[in-house]
Amino acid sequence: MTRMDGKALAAKLQEQLAEKTVALKEQVGIEPGLVVILVGDDPASQVYVRNKERSALAAGFRSEVVRLKASTTQEELLAVIAHYNQAAEWHGILVQLPLPAHMDEEAVLLAIDPSKDVDGFHPMNMGKFWSGHPVMIPSTPAGIMELLREYGIDPAGKKAVMIGRSNIVGKPMAQLLLDANATVTIAHSRTENLEQVAREADILVVAIGSGHFVTKDFVKQGAVVIDVGMNRDENGKLIGDVAYDEVKELASYITPVPGGVGPMTITMLLEQTYQACKRFLDLG
Ligand code: GUN
Repeated sequence: MTRMDGKALAAKLQEQLAEKTVALKEQVGIEPGLVVILVGDDPASQVYVRNKERSALAAGFRSEVVRLKASTTQEELLAVIAHYNQAAEWHGILVQLPLPAHMDEEAVLLAIDPSKDVDGFHPMNMGKFWSGHPVMIPSTPAGIMELLREYGIDPAGKKAVMIGRSNIVGKPMAQLLLDANATVTIAHSRTENLEQVAREADILVVAIGSGHFVTKDFVKQGAVVIDVGMNRDENGKLIGDVAYDEVKELASYITPVPGGVGPMTITMLLEQTYQACKRFLDLG
């Protein structure tokens, strides 16, 4: 079994990105700018947003976090987005999800300028992505593809099973695996015989949001197992969707939690912001 070290790969890629950022600044005097908008005080979102800000600054980016009260109205949020859409020094705008229940997520995502939508959640970017002309790719699936590449795992011809069907992870992950010529099944909490379906997988990606949900009964000997889960156990410890200790006995490759997919998500978000900045400058 090989443990896929997302933390190490993320550190390497972020170092390369920092070098590219220095070069860009020397060339044109501009650094990529990422603004993250957080509405409310969801504890997990607070941690994610802090990590994004820290990594953006470490890469040499301009970074801003806009923290809005949970009681903010949708109109107020749309006005904040409109401001950053117009501001030339910000190349990436990310609205942290989930939003408070009184907001219309679709309307909010639609308000972000697609050329600054570094999450790739705007319908225009989703449409381009699904039709095979990607501009912005959702960060978590993009990070998983980088991990597979790093470890020499080619999905072509393989059976891939994605457990989870969210717009953020499950659906775009399935599209990337399909694009890489895997045969893809999207399974989920309502799939019948889920264990049996999962056991067919050469590559099993799990984003179901339930701690240690995937046990060894879901895993074929030699499978590659990717764990997107971020759950807290009864002691507050961060755990994945995969029961790592038992599944690692069967898997050929497996990502840990923490230190697997999570750090790659941030890395790809920064990379997309860098690319958005270059497109803004007409440099790529
Ligand atoms: N919440 C959980 N993951 C994500 C993500 O990738 N982007 C945003 N905007 N919110 C999230």
